[in-house]
Amino acid sequence: MSSKKKILVIQPVHDLGMELLINNPNFEYETTNDISENNLKSKIVNFDGVSVRTAILNKDIINEAKNLKIISRHGVGYDNIDLPKAKEKGIQLAITSNANAVTVAEHVMFMLLNLSKKKDMYDKTVRSGNFTDRNKLPKTIELCGKNILIAGFGRIGQSLIKRCLGFEMKVYVYDPFVDKEKIEKLGGKKIESLNESVKEMDAISLHVPLNKNTKNLINYDLLKTMKRNCIIINAARGGIINENDLDKALNENLIYGAGLDVFETEPPSKNNPLLKNNKVFLSPHTAAFTEECMIRMGKETIQNIIDFFDEKLEKSKLVKF
Ligand SMILES: NC(=O)c1ccc[n+]([C@@H]2O[C@H](COP(=O)([O-])OP(=O)(O)OC[C@H]3O[C@@H](n4cnc5c(N)ncnc54)[C@H](O)[C@@H]3O)[C@@H](O)[C@H]2O)c1
Repeated sequence: MSSKKKILVIQPVHDLGMELLINNPNFEYETTNDISENNLKSKIVNFDGVSVRTAILNKDIINEAKNLKIISRHGVGYDNIDLPKAKEKGIQLAITSNANAVTVAEHVMFMLLNLSKKKDMYDKTVRSGNFTDRNKLPKTIELCGKNILIAGFGRIGQSLIKRCLGFEMKVYVYDPFVDKEKIEKLGGKKIESLNESVKEMDAISLHVPLNKNTKNLINYDLLKTMKRNCIIINAARGGIINENDLDKALNENLIYGAGLDVFETEPPSKNNPLLKNNKVFLSPHTAAFTEECMIRMGKETIQNIIDFFDEKLEKSKLVKF
C-alpha cells in the first residue's frame, strides 16, 4: 500500500477489533459515536473505508464520500445502507458473515422457550411463597413434536434448524431460493406456499432480509389463518411483521404469543401497543449481543476492511448488488 488508508469506525466495536487497527502501519483511523446525518456527511468525505453498525448511511451521506471504497457492516443485514448510491459510486459492501448466525439462533430458542414455558411464572410463584399453587397454574407447552416454520434459510435459518431438531421439533422451511435437496439434507421439509403452511404451524421464526417483498410479510390476513397456539419470533428486521396487526391478532387470541428482537422503528415509540402487550417477549435488538459474538463481529468488521485493501477479502464476504 502506498499511503495509509483512512478508516472511519462509526459506533464502537469490540476492543479486540480495534486492536487490529491500532499500531497497524497501513492504516489510520478515527471513531465516531455521533450518527446524526450532519455529522456523518461531514465526516465521511475523506475516508477510504468505513465500519458501521446500525447507523443509517443514506444516499446523501454516501454522496459526500470522495475516496470511499468499502463499507464494512458490523453484522449481516444491510437495509441501513443506500445500495443504489453505493453502487453508483463504486463502493463495495462487506458483512461479518461468519460472526452471528449461531448467536441469533440461540436467541430464537431463548425466546421460544420463554414464551412456551411462560416466562417468570414458576419463578414468581416460588419467590412469592405460593409454591403450593403449582397445580393451579396455567400449563406450559412442550417444543417436542411441534411444527416450526423457518422462513428464510440462510446462515441463521440453517443454524436454527439444528437447534430445533435437537428439541425434536418438526421443521418446515420456506425459502424460494433454497432447493429442496439442501433443506431435506439438513432435516427440514420444503414449503412452497407460505400462506398454506402457516395454518399448520405451532411456531414461526423469521430469517428473511427486509425488502419490498418481505415488508409486512406477516399481516393480519395471514395471522388470522394461524393456529391459536402459534408463537411467532422476529429476530430478523422490524417491519417484516406488521406491528399493529400483530397486536390486534394477539388481543383477539388469534395466536398465542410473539418474540420480538426488532422493531419497525428502533427504539420503538412509547405508544407502540406491543410494549404493553404481555403476550409479547421483547429484547432490544440484542439477538447477537453475546460477549463471544461481539468479539467475532468487532474483529471481522475491521479485518474485512484490512483484507479488502490487502486484496485478499474472500468474495463471500462481499454483498452482490
Ligand atoms: N436481530 C439481530 O441482531 C440480527 C442479527 C443478524 C441478522 N439479522 C437479520 O436476520 C436476517 C437473516 O440473516 P442471515 O444472516 O440468515 O441472512 P442470509 O442472507 O444468510 O439468509 C437470508 C435468507 O432469506 C431468503 N429469502 C430472501 N427473500 C426471501 C423471501 N421473500 N421469502 C423467503 N425467503 C427469502 C434468502 O434466500 C436467504 O436464504 C436478516 O434480516 C438480518 O438482517 C438480525
